[in-house]
Amino acid sequence: MASSQIELGTVISTFEDPSTGAFHFVVNSSRVRKGQFVQTRTDDGLLFGAVTDITRANRYFERAESVAEYSRSAPIAENFPTTDWEYTVACVKALGVFQNDFLLRSTFPAAPGEKVFSADEEQLRRFLGFVDDGLNLGKLQNHDVEVKVKMNNLLQKHLSVLGISGSGKSYFMSCLIEELLERKPEHGRIASVIVDIHGEYVGFASGQYGDRASVFQGKKIKIALHKLSPQTLAEFVPELSGSARRELEVILYDLKREMKDKQEPFDLPEVIQRVAESEIKENVKPILLTHLHQLKALNLFGKADNPSLKQLALPGRLCVLDLSDLDNPKRKQLIVAYFARRLFKARKKGKIPPFVLLVEEAHNFAPERLSKFEALSKPVINLIAREGRKFGASLCLISQRPKYLSTTALSQCNSNIIFRITNPYDVKHIAESCESIDQNMANAISTLRVGEAIILGEAVSYPIFVKIRSRRSRNASKSETLESLAKKFEQVEEQKKQDVEAFL
Ligand SMILES: Nc1ncnc2c1ncn2[C@@H]1O[C@H](COP(=O)(O)OP(=O)(O)O)[C@@H](O)[C@H]1O
Ligand SMILES: [Mg+2]
Repeated sequence: MASSQIELGTVISTFEDPSTGAFHFVVNSSRVRKGQFVQTRTDDGLLFGAVTDITRANRYFERAESVAEYSRSAPIAENFPTTDWEYTVACVKALGVFQNDFLLRSTFPAAPGEKVFSADEEQLRRFLGFVDDGLNLGKLQNHDVEVKVKMNNLLQKHLSVLGISGSGKSYFMSCLIEELLERKPEHGRIASVIVDIHGEYVGFASGQYGDRASVFQGKKIKIALHKLSPQTLAEFVPELSGSARRELEVILYDLKREMKDKQEPFDLPEVIQRVAESEIKENVKPILLTHLHQLKALNLFGKADNPSLKQLALPGRLCVLDLSDLDNPKRKQLIVAYFARRLFKARKKGKIPPFVLLVEEAHNFAPERLSKFEALSKPVINLIAREGRKFGASLCLISQRPKYLSTTALSQCNSNIIFRITNPYDVKHIAESCESIDQNMANAISTLRVGEAIILGEAVSYPIFVKIRSRRSRNASKSETLESLAKKFEQVEEQKKQDVEAFL
C-alpha cells in the first residue's frame, strides 16, 4: 500500500528514539510540513504518526571558521559545497498502528532505516473519524482530505469557536450553518438558532437557503409576559429586594389564576396597574414600580412570544435572532436568557427537535467575571453547557476574548475550533481549558492565517489544521468596510450639493 504514497524520508536513530511514542526521520522531500500525517512500516503493522516539529541543520555552518571563510568569499560562495551538508529532520509523534483496519496503540517503535511516507488518505479519514455524511468544514492541511466531521462529535458536547476579530469565525459559522441546513432527514436534522449581534446571518433568509431560514429583527422580538414564572420575572430584575420580590410574586400568581378563568393573557401594563392599586407597603411599592417601569421601557414584553417556539426550532431550519438593531445590552441579555431557557425547557419535554444554539460574542452573554446584574443570560448558558447534551440541546459559543468567557461554559465545550489568536493570555487560557492541546499546537495558534483553524477535542481523534472551505450562501452581512462607508458619505453629500444648486 505504501508504494502509492509519496516518500518523505528515512527513520533515523537518535538518543531518545525511535520509541513507542515518537521517532525522527531525515527529510528527503520538500513536502513535509508541521501537522502532516505520515506512516512507516513496523513489525506490528503500519505505524501512523503526526509531524510535530521540523528542524534544519547544516554542519558546515556549525564551525565558526568555515562560516567565516564562507562569508569572506561571498562572490564565489557557490563553489562551497554547503548544501551537501544541509539536512532536515522531522519529529513525529506516533499515534497508533493499523492492524486489519483497526488502529491500535503503538507498542513497538519504528525501525531506523525504514522509509517514511505521507499517510494514506483513506486510512487518515478513518483515523480522524471523518464520515461521508459528516459536516464538510474544509480541507485538511497538507493532505487532499475533506474534513467531514460527524455532527454528533462536533456538537453534542458543545463547540467553542475562538479567534481574534477578523480571523474567520463568522465566515466559518456560515459554512457550518450551510452544512446543517443541507442535511438529509435520514441523517438526522437539528434546529439551529443563532444570536446574531452584527446582522451577519440575515443573508440566509434570501437566496438558496431562503426556504429554510427565518430572520427576526431585534426590535420586533417579544417576550410573552404571562409565560414567565414569577421567579424568572424576579430574576430579570435582580435589583429587587427580598420583600419587593415576594410582593411581585403574589401579584403574578393572582394574575395567572385570573388568566385561566378569563382565557386572556395579561401583559406588563396590567402588572404595573395591579402593583399601583395594591396595598403593598409604602416603602416597597415605589421602588417596585420604578423597576417595572424600567422593564416596560425596554419595549420587550407583550402578550405573545415573537418568535414563537414553533418558529424558533424546526428540524433542518435556521432561526436568526438579529440583534443588530438593538443598543440596550439588558434588552439583548433578556432576549438570550428568555429564548435559551424556553428552548432548553421545551427540548427537555421533547416538544421541539434537538437544537444547537449558536451565540456570537459569547463573552458578553456568559462572561466570566460580571455580577448577576449584568449577566442575566449567563446562568442559562451555563445550565445548557452542563446539562444540554443529555437532552440534545447543544451550544456553540463564538468569542474573540476567550479569557472573558465563562470558564464553566468553555470547559464544557468538548470540541474547539481555534482561529488565529495573538494575545498570550488568551492562548494560555485556551491551553488550560482544552485538554488535547499541546505546547506545539498552542504555539501555532498565533501563526494561523485568516480562514485557517485548529480543530481539537471530540470532533477529531487528533488535533488537525484545517483550511475552512468557501461558503455557498451569499454574504449579506450588514457590516460594511470603512472604504465603502466613506465613499457612500461623500456621494450623498455631493448629491445634496447638486440638488441645492439645481434648485437655485
Ligand atoms: N475561509 C475563508 N475564506 C475566504 N474568506 C474568508 C474566510 N474566512 C474569513 N474570510 C474573510 O475574512 C474576513 C473576516 O472574517 P470574519 O469571519 O468576519 O471574521 P471574525 O468573525 O473572526 O471577526 C471577512 O471579510 C471574510 O470574508
Ligand atoms: Mg465575527
